[in-house]
Amino acid sequence: MKTIIITGGAGFIGSHLIRLFVNKYPDYKIINLDKLTYAGNLANLKDVEKMPNYEFVKADIVDADHMFEIFDKYQPDGVIHLAAESHVDRSIANPNEFIFTNIVGTTNLLNAARKTWGDKLDDKLFYHVSTDEVYGSLGETGFFVETTAYDPRSPYSASKASSDHLVRAYGHTFGLPSVISNCSNNYGSYQFPEKLLPLFINNIRNKKALPVYGKGENIRDWLWVEDHARAIDVIYHQGKVGDTYNIGGHNEWTNIDLIKLMCKIMDSKLNRKEGESEQLITYVKDRAGHDMRYAIDSSKLQDELGWTPSLQFEEGLEKTIDWYLESDEWMNEVTSGDYQKYYDEMYKNR
Ligand code: NAD
Ligand code: DAU
Repeated sequence: MKTIIITGGAGFIGSHLIRLFVNKYPDYKIINLDKLTYAGNLANLKDVEKMPNYEFVKADIVDADHMFEIFDKYQPDGVIHLAAESHVDRSIANPNEFIFTNIVGTTNLLNAARKTWGDKLDDKLFYHVSTDEVYGSLGETGFFVETTAYDPRSPYSASKASSDHLVRAYGHTFGLPSVISNCSNNYGSYQFPEKLLPLFINNIRNKKALPVYGKGENIRDWLWVEDHARAIDVIYHQGKVGDTYNIGGHNEWTNIDLIKLMCKIMDSKLNRKEGESEQLITYVKDRAGHDMRYAIDSSKLQDELGWTPSLQFEEGLEKTIDWYLESDEWMNEVTSGDYQKYYDEMYKNR
């Protein structure tokens, strides 16, 4: 019996990871530690909430004392840390929350793990889930590899880079067993509709403008979220302590090509005239400091641990669009409350 604390388990990627672990490892106890910010939603976990090996604990990782209490109570063998403020645009509008959660919160978890584990470090692991954005922005060629120098360029990526450095520092200075993975853009079900895909799917459906930043030429490397969760599983169980693994799908798209593909698929699914949804595309003021291109080289993970992405992008995109079209209740719930206010504020000056 292993006990693993997964932080941020009520969010987009965290909920997929919890679903995978709770179903795949009936003899593990999975603790979902989440503050339930606007991005955390227990409805993402309805299908697993009654499983005997799952427990939810509402807590803020910025509260150091509470972290010590929780670690003392559950005595985890491992931590998989996903809790974070995760949206670049929000980090530009209000950086401070990112410093608290992503840097101070991560340090609190490292301290709690250190105190609880003491020198009994056999079979213990602190797994930190990070992003490719810590590496900065690429030109037309090349890929991020694990040794690419850090060059974060937004408050979000700077806060994630800081947390990566702290995890490595705790490994080097205190011998805390840790591993880090840096993943490219995820897509799939249960993603909060502030990020490109769910926001645009929802807007296309409701015939609302599609706010494309700049010229839409920026490039992202898209990976199906369940493939990310599978990669975390493989790295947690077989990764080398102290190592870093890049995760990505070798699947680069300019934003505008991706948006046009989404419009085309949705025209057909919603019985609209071909080209109708593309009319919604509206070019707006660019994101400040907008990174041009991300592209991950995941050959280390593929060669050493045998992970490969399972899904072709077009198939995954269709599945994803179908899920959002069928999940009215979920979408209505997450877009009620403060969502409209957020949307009006974020897009009013664009
Ligand atoms: P998300 O915003 O959907 O979910 C974040 C979760 O963390 C939410 O459930 C939220 O309630 C929780 N949380 C936030 N602040 C907290 C706090 N102070 N205490 C406890 N819980 C708190 O994020 P996501 O897209 O699922 O990303 C998860 C992790 O993966 C993040 O660390 C992110 O940096 C990283 N990541 C994301 C992507 C991506 O494409 N979404 C890609 C690579 C890496
Ligand atoms: O690369 C991994 C990262 O991917 C994660 O670490 C982040 O948590 C995650 O949010 C994501 O960051 P991006 O900034 O790449 O994702 P986002 O969905 O916000 O934007 C994707 C691209 O689409 C980006 O080039 C900006 C553009 N965009 C986004 C929005 C929300 C638009 O053109 N219009 C929009 O309204």
